Amino acid sequence: MRAAVVTEFDHPPQCLDVPEPTPGDHQEIVDVLAVGLHPRVRSQANGSHYTSAGVLPVIPGVDGVGRRADGSLVYFVLPPGATQGSMAELATVDTRSSVTLPDDADPVRVAAAMNPAMSSWLALRRRVGFTPGEHVLVLGATGSAGQLAVQVARALGARSVTAVGRGTERLAFLPDLGADVVVSLDGDPDEAAQAVGRAASEVDVVLDYLWGAPTQAAIGPVLAHRADPARRLDWIEIGSVAGPQIALPAAALRAVNLRLLGSGHGSVSTDAMVAELGELARWIVAGTFTQAVLTFDLADIEQAWAAPVPAGARVVVTPTR
Ligand SMILES: NC(=O)c1ccc[n+]([C@@H]2O[C@H](COP(=O)([O-])OP(=O)(O)OC[C@H]3O[C@@H](n4cnc5c(N)ncnc54)[C@H](OP(=O)(O)O)[C@@H]3O)[C@@H](O)[C@H]2O)c1
Repeated sequence: MRAAVVTEFDHPPQCLDVPEPTPGDHQEIVDVLAVGLHPRVRSQANGSHYTSAGVLPVIPGVDGVGRRADGSLVYFVLPPGATQGSMAELATVDTRSSVTLPDDADPVRVAAAMNPAMSSWLALRRRVGFTPGEHVLVLGATGSAGQLAVQVARALGARSVTAVGRGTERLAFLPDLGADVVVSLDGDPDEAAQAVGRAASEVDVVLDYLWGAPTQAAIGPVLAHRADPARRLDWIEIGSVAGPQIALPAAALRAVNLRLLGSGHGSVSTDAMVAELGELARWIVAGTFTQAVLTFDLADIEQAWAAPVPAGARVVVTPTR
């Protein structure tokens, strides 16, 4: 079969012939229809993800949409650290980490949206007791996961959604997705951080895709501007596109009712994640969320890797049609 194969961590994958997989217990082989090229897949392919054991070759791809032997459609998630990923004509799917899709589901739409949408969906539904009527702030709202976080928060009943990010053109799009307030990080970082703080005085949940310098700059002003310091603020670390670390003054944890937590593989159990797949997939299939997609055939995997991607859009690779 054909697959995207990484043979060197500092080079993009190539489309090569590899042996077909054989299923084990609780596994089935599916024809792979669509696979998202998520940031997580790029870090898998360049060996930088924390689950990478440095073993080559790697077939990248952490999830996807496939067609079973009986013709039904399935969305599946592969185990962390897998080196036989989903960017191949066939994939081995664990029946306990997959969910059947309706026959009319668009495989490309589902493959594009499930991973980025799941980031905010799990954070709100599995990491905190989010309830409709609460106020949400998305820190880093311009990317694929951030744009979907704005929409997921709105769809789950947020009373207000504040979207924070950089880039005037990209920020201008966010009200159409459901953001009530948009705060720009462009310009002077301290002034931007103060603006974030002022906008967050009543926020209940921060969905943080940035971390690094913007989070470090914003967290002080956000805490300083709390209308009621005793009101709980759940700050959920989801991504770290702006840097892997922050320095946090000890007093920040005493002066306000701040809960700092993360959301991802590990902090959310596989069982909990799988339990959420079906409902999120239904919302995506129903067209609840807006997301741009760029589609590439598996044969063009090198172009897929190098393609310039508009903000919020997701590259999807289609091994078979
Ligand atoms: N924990 C989870 O469950 C989970 C699931 C999915 C994704 N994630 C993580 O979430 C993060 C975002 O994923 P994604 O799919 O949305 O990626 P993406 O589509 O590549 O978007 C990244 C966005 O971040 C912006 N950005 C980068 N550096 C920034 C900075 N210093 N200040 C402000 N904005 C900045 C980028 O804007 P520019 O174009 O200006 O650079 C871009 O709009 C990644 O770290 C990903 O690994 C986590």
